[in-house]
Amino acid sequence: MAIRPEEITAVIKTQIEGFSGSTELKEEGSVLQVGDGIARVYGIENAMSGELLEFPNGVMGMVLNLEKENVGCVLFGSDALVKEGDAVRRTGKIAQVPVGDAMIGRVVDALGRPIDGKGVIKTTKSRPLDIVAPGVMERAPVVEPLQTGVKAVDAMIPIGRGQRELIIGDRQTGKTAIAIDTIINQKNQPNRPICIYVAVGQKQSTVAAVVQKLQDAGAMDYTIVVSAGASEPAPMLYIAPYAGCSIGEEFLWAGKAVLVIYDDLSKHAAAYRQLSLLLRRPPGREAYPGDVFYLHSRLLERACKLSKENGGGSLTALPIIETQANDVSAFIPTNVISITDGQIYLESNLFYSGIRPAVNVGLSVSRVGGAAQTKAMKSVAGRLRLDMAQYNALAAFAQFGSELDASSQKQLARGERLVELLKQGQYVPLSVERQVLAIYAGTNGFVDEVPAKDVRRYETELYAYAETRHAATMKELGDKKVIDDALKTKIEALLKEFKGQFK
Ligand SMILES: Nc1ncnc2c1ncn2[C@@H]1O[C@H](COP(=O)(O)OP(=O)(O)OP(=O)(O)O)[C@@H](O)[C@H]1O
Ligand SMILES: [Mg+2]
Repeated sequence: MAIRPEEITAVIKTQIEGFSGSTELKEEGSVLQVGDGIARVYGIENAMSGELLEFPNGVMGMVLNLEKENVGCVLFGSDALVKEGDAVRRTGKIAQVPVGDAMIGRVVDALGRPIDGKGVIKTTKSRPLDIVAPGVMERAPVVEPLQTGVKAVDAMIPIGRGQRELIIGDRQTGKTAIAIDTIINQKNQPNRPICIYVAVGQKQSTVAAVVQKLQDAGAMDYTIVVSAGASEPAPMLYIAPYAGCSIGEEFLWAGKAVLVIYDDLSKHAAAYRQLSLLLRRPPGREAYPGDVFYLHSRLLERACKLSKENGGGSLTALPIIETQANDVSAFIPTNVISITDGQIYLESNLFYSGIRPAVNVGLSVSRVGGAAQTKAMKSVAGRLRLDMAQYNALAAFAQFGSELDASSQKQLARGERLVELLKQGQYVPLSVERQVLAIYAGTNGFVDEVPAKDVRRYETELYAYAETRHAATMKELGDKKVIDDALKTKIEALLKEFKGQFK
């Protein structure tokens, strides 16, 4: 039989053409070692750092360590489903989450898969988990307030849209409470922010309770909950905050306002430490790997206010850190304090003495929010901070039981009432006009004669009185944002009138 060279070259040509295209996609390796949520894979030399890998039984993994002989990766599922020698496929994709409007109102896991039993999320868009934060030129200064609805915070530690404000304190001091109240308070805000609550390493029951509260308050209409529970593998906890941030960035770049809460980053750091140690990265201080600072800085740098050319969106971050015995000088707390634009410091002794929210006014600060505070609030709150500082200094002194002069006694009495006035229950965020009115009354001596135990009743009755009898003044206070002389006279008249009938 004669051999036809054209035929053979044609076959070889088609084989060569088909060759290069398919190799990249089908690149396969095999599992060398697996355990503790970590797998070492041989034979995928071209894998990228951060790339998703497919293991058998639907388990996904992510490449973290690129080594000479193999790659180390973390598993987002049970390691019991993977065994030595199993085939591993590259996906060619950097780890990403689904994003888009369809996510709103849903509860998802760290990979963006729904866990609320409400069916699939219909979205085709996705974003990589880890991106480089927007640069200086893409940003604009923070000028718009993010109202938390918590008097003590909005008055003294104001937060601006695009800011990063840390909520820090021991366990059970009301950290989550402030975050949840902030989400609830966004309901009627202008240009309402989309809220994302990222729960890292919490009990399922706690997260379920939070979701229930948000639902009851009607806040799930604009909220997304990303949950990586305490029982989930550490890699899920590790990526959850990035997933939350990426979901938020879709709205950010669409020019919207976004609020992301990371509850909490201490557990996030611990999860990262766990997988770093298992990947045999060298341990440093408190056994955290050397790049644990970068872990949080690259996350929090992604909070920003974008410039007009970029749509003017904003992403505000409220990370939470849990301290041990009020020790803010431990490794992770100091790291996160230095990355953020200020902190709300909650103290357990204040909390247990009934001062709730347990904000330590002296140690809390907001470094950029002042520029975003409304003028009306600014004008009343300056005085408040001063009064509180003087009161705290005097109160420490008065503990010795020494005789105090009249003016000091007056200051003490004022301070006691202001402390009462700043107390606030959970799930009752206050509008700006209510806050301004209450603080105006407190700092201008209208509450001085009210017995301290009656101050909270005074406050609730004042709101009701003002809103029924002086609705116009209240509206003006909310809309105007500045207290001019005319408005001032109206407020004073209102407060005097109320004082006359308060018993
Ligand atoms: N302003 C408040 N008034 C009354 N109770 C409050 C207030 N804030 C929080 N609490 C209560 O205090 C408890 C602890 O609050 P929360 O769970 O927010 O604290 P946490 O610091 O997030 O705790 P954990 O460390 O467990 O996460 C809860 O039972 C909550 O209902
Ligand atoms: Mg909490």
